[in-house]
Amino acid sequence: MTEHEARYPVPEHASARAWVDEETYRSRYAQSVEDADAFWLEEARSRLTWFTAPEIGSESRYTPSDVQVRWFADGELNACYNCIDRHLEDKADKVAIYWEGDNPDDHLSLTFAELHEKVCRFANGLKSLGVGKGDTVTLYMPMIPEALMGMLACARIGAIHSVVFGGFSPDALAGRIVDSGSRVVITADESLRGGKNIPLKENVDEALTRPGTEVVEHVLVVRRTGGSVAVNPRDCWYHDVVDPQSSECPPEPMNAEDPLFILYTSGSTGTPKGLLHTTGGYLLYAAMTHRDIFDVHDDDVYWCAADVGWITGHSYIVYGPMANGATSVIFEGVPSYPSHGRIGEVIDKYGVTILYTSPTAVRSLMAQGDDIMASSTRESLRVLGSVGEPINPEAWNWFYRVIGNSRCPIMDTWWQTETGGIMITPLPGATELKPGSATRPFFGIQPALYDNEGQELSGEAEGNLVIKASWPGQARTIWQNHDRFVQTYFSTFDNVYFTGDGCRRDEDGYFWITGRIDDVLNVSGHRMGTAEIESSLVAHEAVAEAAVVGFPHEVKGQGIYIYVTLNEGIQPTDELRAELVKWVRKDIGPIATPDVIQWAPGLPKTRSGKIMRRILRKIAADELDGLGDTSTLADPGVVDDLIEHRQSK
Ligand code: PRX
Repeated sequence: MTEHEARYPVPEHASARAWVDEETYRSRYAQSVEDADAFWLEEARSRLTWFTAPEIGSESRYTPSDVQVRWFADGELNACYNCIDRHLEDKADKVAIYWEGDNPDDHLSLTFAELHEKVCRFANGLKSLGVGKGDTVTLYMPMIPEALMGMLACARIGAIHSVVFGGFSPDALAGRIVDSGSRVVITADESLRGGKNIPLKENVDEALTRPGTEVVEHVLVVRRTGGSVAVNPRDCWYHDVVDPQSSECPPEPMNAEDPLFILYTSGSTGTPKGLLHTTGGYLLYAAMTHRDIFDVHDDDVYWCAADVGWITGHSYIVYGPMANGATSVIFEGVPSYPSHGRIGEVIDKYGVTILYTSPTAVRSLMAQGDDIMASSTRESLRVLGSVGEPINPEAWNWFYRVIGNSRCPIMDTWWQTETGGIMITPLPGATELKPGSATRPFFGIQPALYDNEGQELSGEAEGNLVIKASWPGQARTIWQNHDRFVQTYFSTFDNVYFTGDGCRRDEDGYFWITGRIDDVLNVSGHRMGTAEIESSLVAHEAVAEAAVVGFPHEVKGQGIYIYVTLNEGIQPTDELRAELVKWVRKDIGPIATPDVIQWAPGLPKTRSGKIMRRILRKIAADELDGLGDTSTLADPGVVDDLIEHRQSK
């Protein structure tokens, strides 16, 4: 048997105490789609604590003229209360967070009682800056407890948080501040990753020179490194504002459909979209998927190695684990610092039982060889998780064998910013695994494959992945742009949510995600619109036109390959190439760093002027046999030139 055909049955240690075994999965899944409202109302009432329990289930509909996603609309609750206060009765002294700094000597722990006190002060501090229910607050933070506390403090008073990943550039940050209309920005002096200081506050200062950012009245700054920062009239220190506050702050009762947060993500066109998630359905879905998919019990130590700037951080660092009263490790640093053994050492240090990470992290460690794990035993581990991109069987096997000591099942979880929580996934106590497959749908999720004409495909098939029927964690809209929400997700196919992913279903009904089918790249698990990178490049004075495509990359999954047409009279030099790389990094952020730039005197276009990306993708991937029909091109000759001058990677 090759490793691609390997199957891994449920290990006995996983089935012994799992929340969900195979029989439960089958019967509960059937109930969840046959009587969805009853199923979800029961889950909502039993897993969350409500001020007013809901009687209404879903009021969602996807008719082309009327797209609405609504759940539990008569329920009232507070997300922060569910994540902290309700645990105080029996878990006040349980550790909520083990924080591990970038430097291994830098660490602290916080119990639920301590967290409660700090979040209440933080919430009162925000109130003192004029933040109230329905206001938006932007967070641009390192991975420190104050990032989570800031999110929970917003939730406590009914403010809507918009977290912007700390690796984004000042321009990217400015765009998100303006779109969300935040009057308050929370940041830190600097963040610290891999021993390097990143000037977050300086980036905020630069962002706030951009047009439209005058709406910002206060910048609340946490002192992380003590690095020097400019102090402007709108700035205030976290310790000055928050420390003197009262440690009592009643949680604001929120309707289940009141907004909880906005999170920006890239699409195939235009600027990033602010996906809006609301309170009740999102929290239920995050809590339920977290407990059932990672099989979290009271004595577990759970570690999700993502950043709070992404949806994975929102659902599986903050809301899911905290709603479940779990003990989590929060990591500020990177897997390669001070050495490549760090992940294993952190696992041993805290006795981590569940590790949730990305294929990119696994591949970057795999490239260092098995020996890097010699500094740890990792014997506490029992469940592993993967997210963000397809995990190739080689990386799956290395993760399983080396990190997990061939003992821990891997949950390959497929989902998106838009879905709020995990959608297609194995369950530790129920699912036989096949490396590379996200396997089967979670409760209530009805995936289907459609061909390009909108016909549903049955049995073994490959096509466009859509989801029939709504689920509680689904994004409700795009902030201030419901038309774009409808257009992006509900106009390609009638009456279903379109994911933008391609997918294959095998003979056992297992799903294998094949990747994005639109012009969205997935670089190291980070989503990036080709249009964003292209518009950054054409803003450079030397560039006439640019086309961006992905190519297969050993560690990052996809790399960024750019074809650039220069303006008349501009010389294509190595210096210019380096300058353009720097330009994109500065404009969008280091995650968008181009891997390859090829000078293209012309781009392959149809007679109507549309760039044929299919051809550009093939050339970038060195797949020259499969170029297909080029006769419809306005000038087929440009293809030969591009092939001849393609760049090595
Ligand atoms: O293409 C899919 C890929 O990541 C996209 C969603 O990106 P984002 O909204 O940033 O959320 C990432 C974390 C949930 C999807 O459309 N993707 C995510 N998980 C997987 C995946 N592709 C294959 N397998 C996965 N497990």
